Amino acid sequence: MIPTPSTSHLSADDFESVYEPAEDTFVLLDALEQDSDLLKSSRVCLEIGSGSGCVSAFLGAICGPSSALYLCTDLNPHAARCTALTGQSNSVPLNPVLTDLTGALLPRLKHAVDCLVFNPPYVETDDDEAFQAQEDGVIERAWAGGVGGMRVTNRLLDQVETLLSPRGVFYLVAVPENKPLQILDEMRARGLHGEITLKRRAGREHLHILRFSRPEHPRITAAAAGP
Ligand SMILES: C[S@@+](CC[C@H](N)C(=O)[O-])C[C@H]1O[C@@H](n2cnc3c(N)ncnc32)[C@H](O)[C@@H]1O
Repeated sequence: MIPTPSTSHLSADDFESVYEPAEDTFVLLDALEQDSDLLKSSRVCLEIGSGSGCVSAFLGAICGPSSALYLCTDLNPHAARCTALTGQSNSVPLNPVLTDLTGALLPRLKHAVDCLVFNPPYVETDDDEAFQAQEDGVIERAWAGGVGGMRVTNRLLDQVETLLSPRGVFYLVAVPENKPLQILDEMRARGLHGEITLKRRAGREHLHILRFSRPEHPRITAAAAGP
């Protein structure tokens, strides 16, 4: 079992403005650990919305601290600072980038990302609340997702095919309000194979982890086809 990265260097004050790892974070860690054989040879990892940096530090434990490049974006400057500290505390060289989704990284990362991860703001709110959170919210940016909880996620879904390397895998946290089956259909139309690899109820939330890859991904296609 891979230990959960330490965030004990972060204070209650930090978690006033940065998303504290919670059940959604931990379900995502479990899905990544479940796929650790698939992921361990990744060379470029990109986490969108890294918050505390806990998820990327965990990826560092799977892929090896010096074996991959770890890029971590967030809109929240406090999150970028906490991500850097979590990298240092867990001996994983995390590279925080303060930007909207993939920002200026996208052209350079075309078909280069082996492991892409997003635990997005997925809570259903009205669009104004999500828009305002994206513009000048701090902690609200962590959860306010607009209609269907999909306003931010949909913008990333448009970029996934361009980002993934031939063996690239994308993990997304979703809840039923986000219509996970519809997300799978929409990504199929963009040429990506998707499946729900983990589901867990946590209080009122029913968390899903969706995993996407190219249909020709040798290991995922083989696994899906059975022995
Ligand atoms: C639910 S939190 C997840 C944090 C962390 N990855 C985890 O799993 O604990 C969502 C994160 O996405 C960030 N975020 C929201 N909108 C974003 C955007 N447009 N671009 C980059 N990051 C964004 C938030 O600031 C927040 O840190």
